[in-house]
Amino acid sequence: MAMSDTIPPMFDPFEPGFFDDPYPQYRLLRDEDPVHEHPMLRLWFLTRYEDVSAVLRAGLSVEARSLTTGDVFEQSEALSGTRALVDNHSMLERDPPDHTRLRSLVAKVFTRRAVAALEPEIARLVDDALERLACAGTADLVETLAFPLPFTVISRMLGMPPTDSTRIRELSGALVRSWEPIADSEIMDTLIHASAELMQIIRSLIDWKRRHPADDLLTALIAAEHEGTVLSEDELVSQVVLLYVAGHETTVNLIANGVVALLRNPDQLELLRSQPHLASNAVEEVLRYDTPVQLTRRITIAPHTIGDKEIPAGSLIIPCLGSANRDERFFGSSADQLRIERPEARSQISFGVGPHRCVGAALARLQGRIAIERLVKRFPNLSLADDVAWNNRINLRGAARVPVSV
Ligand code: HEM
Repeated sequence: MAMSDTIPPMFDPFEPGFFDDPYPQYRLLRDEDPVHEHPMLRLWFLTRYEDVSAVLRAGLSVEARSLTTGDVFEQSEALSGTRALVDNHSMLERDPPDHTRLRSLVAKVFTRRAVAALEPEIARLVDDALERLACAGTADLVETLAFPLPFTVISRMLGMPPTDSTRIRELSGALVRSWEPIADSEIMDTLIHASAELMQIIRSLIDWKRRHPADDLLTALIAAEHEGTVLSEDELVSQVVLLYVAGHETTVNLIANGVVALLRNPDQLELLRSQPHLASNAVEEVLRYDTPVQLTRRITIAPHTIGDKEIPAGSLIIPCLGSANRDERFFGSSADQLRIERPEARSQISFGVGPHRCVGAALARLQGRIAIERLVKRFPNLSLADDVAWNNRINLRGAARVPVSV
């Protein structure tokens, strides 16, 4: 994006270098146009910490059908991905009272205690992955650790039977395009087909689970569905898809982006190695520094004022968590640097805030801490063996390939 007195800054993910490092663009928007009305995409992009946090706490709508601005669906590519979500029953796409009912059901079985009990199993899975890494000497950290760990953990928590994980991985990779702010018609087609196939797979896994109940999340959700008034069949399927996809497509980026950030800041890596008690704060700091879920979305039902701008009813607002986490107004002048001792790291906003804040935050933090802690401890000579490749996603930003040598 060119800096100029006459051309205002614009959110432009097609600018060269954006996927390697979107943060300079976000800084410019924070400084020059923090409540940015995109001229072509017909959305409002928020980049400052205070605005992002206030909008998420304000309890605005998340239901795509609330978008009422005439033919806005037809005119804006930005909204085509959102349109795919109109019939989605997941709690992420529902307002109260449905949201309250769906969320409380999941939160009831997704407790802090249930998550903490997973620590020994997660440690075992991490150690197995590190053993494979030790044998290989040089390998892709995403394939050996960052992807398989959260995928296995959420599969086991749900109580999924052994199934074709390669196909599920492909489908969920396609499905998360619906969380991207821009989707052309080709992506939309892929997304609609992937969604239908994944729903079908999940329905058959649910049928299997009905015949094989156990002490797991899926059995608990099926029990709620049996009560009929609590959870319909479509809602059951949508919550399972959400938990499955959100359970791994995000945590993979926490681990991969976190390790890349530490390897690119050797002083911080050394600090963590010499003071392992900093691991929890280091996880907060990497979540802040290179945010795994960069954006979310809200919809105005009534006009909504932010600063000196009035956003009309029926508009799509994109609060940018990744930018808020780099806001020097909140995190100080070192906001662009990785500092694993940073006391304010715990105020990072990577899991959202307000009614839709992440249900899986404790699980993600636990996996991130155990993975990073044990990786750093086991391999004192860990280094990047080649260039990092990014996944070229605007929202679920992550390293797609992290070649490391141990
Ligand atoms: C919601 C981020 C891991 C399940 C959210 C939201 C964010 C987020 C930003 C709020 C979206 C909004 O306000 O619109 C992350 C990140 C993760 C992570 C960065 C990992 C580093 C997980 C895991 C699970 C999960 C492991 C489940 C196993 C959910 C669910 C919601 C949610 C169910 C919807 C909550 C609601 O709508 O009330 N997550 N998440 N997430 N997350 Fe996560």
